[in-house]
Amino acid sequence: MDVFRIEGPVRLSGRVPVNGSKNAALPIMAAAILAEGQSSLVSVPNLSDVRVFVELLKSLGCRVERQAQGDMLIDSTVIDNPVGDYEIVRKMRASICILGPLLARCGRAEVSMPGGCAIGDRPINLHVRGLRQLGAEIHLKNGYVIAEAPHGLTGASIFLGGSFGSTVLGTANVMMAATLARGRTVIESAACEPEITDLANCLNDMGARISGIGSPRLVIEGVGQLNPVRYTVIPDRIEAGTFMVAAAITNGELELTNCRLDDMMAVVDKLRSIGIAVESKGDGCTVVGTGKIIPADITTQPYPGFPTDLQAQFMALLALAQGNSLVIEKIFPDRFMHVAELNRMAADLRKEGPAVVVAGVEKLVAAPVMASDLRASAALVLAGMAAEGTTTINRVYHIDRGYERIEERLNPLGAKIRREKAP
Ligand code: EPU
Repeated sequence: MDVFRIEGPVRLSGRVPVNGSKNAALPIMAAAILAEGQSSLVSVPNLSDVRVFVELLKSLGCRVERQAQGDMLIDSTVIDNPVGDYEIVRKMRASICILGPLLARCGRAEVSMPGGCAIGDRPINLHVRGLRQLGAEIHLKNGYVIAEAPHGLTGASIFLGGSFGSTVLGTANVMMAATLARGRTVIESAACEPEITDLANCLNDMGARISGIGSPRLVIEGVGQLNPVRYTVIPDRIEAGTFMVAAAITNGELELTNCRLDDMMAVVDKLRSIGIAVESKGDGCTVVGTGKIIPADITTQPYPGFPTDLQAQFMALLALAQGNSLVIEKIFPDRFMHVAELNRMAADLRKEGPAVVVAGVEKLVAAPVMASDLRASAALVLAGMAAEGTTTINRVYHIDRGYERIEERLNPLGAKIRREKAP
């Protein structure tokens, strides 16, 4: 297992390109199941989560090939095993988004029920409810979700909201299944995340008829078949946001290329209120620390609100603010594994239910810390670059799930991050 040794404090400067979005790429890879033939995806990041998804697609019968950097060929001519195996699904919860496409393509799917994870319970009741409303029969057997629709799916009106708002992968699953259903499907309270918009655009390029894209009401007219596609995945707004905080927390100056500020209004607005200068430039932006971190209150919300996937990184930044901040988590109320670790680095964070009171401190101090989930680990890397001394982060595999060789991207900008084998 790898560890990071991070020397700080450093000041970052320079230019960094943002990769394709993990959370857009995964459901788009699943969408390739819907069309017989060879699809070609561009700007697919080379991450361990993507590699797990490749393993999953291959286990179904697809042929998958990585070509030039970022390009991926998925040949789904043959799908002869519509089963999401426990050994693969347990590595990555997003595997559940093969359920809808398999059901629509094969009339049957068995997918291991994903468990919870470090960020809390991860139920799939809304996915199941939506697919049932399309006519699927679904039951649970030996830890597997067994879904059947031998006579095909039929369009329906489906409300997909839950106690914590809309569901991103639930919307992906139901929308993908509905593209091949007979008649019209209306999804109300659909997730509006840019990754869902990207998936819907890709599906329409494949011949689907989806309207209302980007809104909470999607209307899908079922079609007889979808065709293979060549499609470019959008830039990763969470990676971009992480780099923005990297500039801010090191009082640095970064230019991000391949970054869509329009997808990041809540994040940019928050950075500006914290005292960070963010300006649009070319196909990206510049982010400049101003030497002052102003406290701020953050509440995570479904898009277009502030994303839960940047909550931990912003908490690391606010830990150094000149005053008190409040961070409220409304999507995953237990997503606070980073709190105790940041406190080991001399932050002053106090958790109260689904909220954390962040009392700003003058400096962070290096410590050995433990990565627990993807975004929590990113927060520790950010804190490590700002802290005095050498921070050791254990269990770096969590960060490799969502950031491609982050040390090789940050070191040319002035970071001092060494990847070592754990003793
Ligand atoms: N929920 C239900 N029932 C369901 C599904 C979800 O109650 O059937 C609840 C969840 O427990 C949560 C809320 O609804 O409280 C939202 O969960 P959602 O289904 O939207 O999450 P997801 O689709 O499983 C995706 C991202 C996550 C991101 C969330 C929220 C992918 C692969 N994953 O997960 O990304 O945090 O949306 O935006 O797209 C990450 O990249 O680090 C990550 C965890």
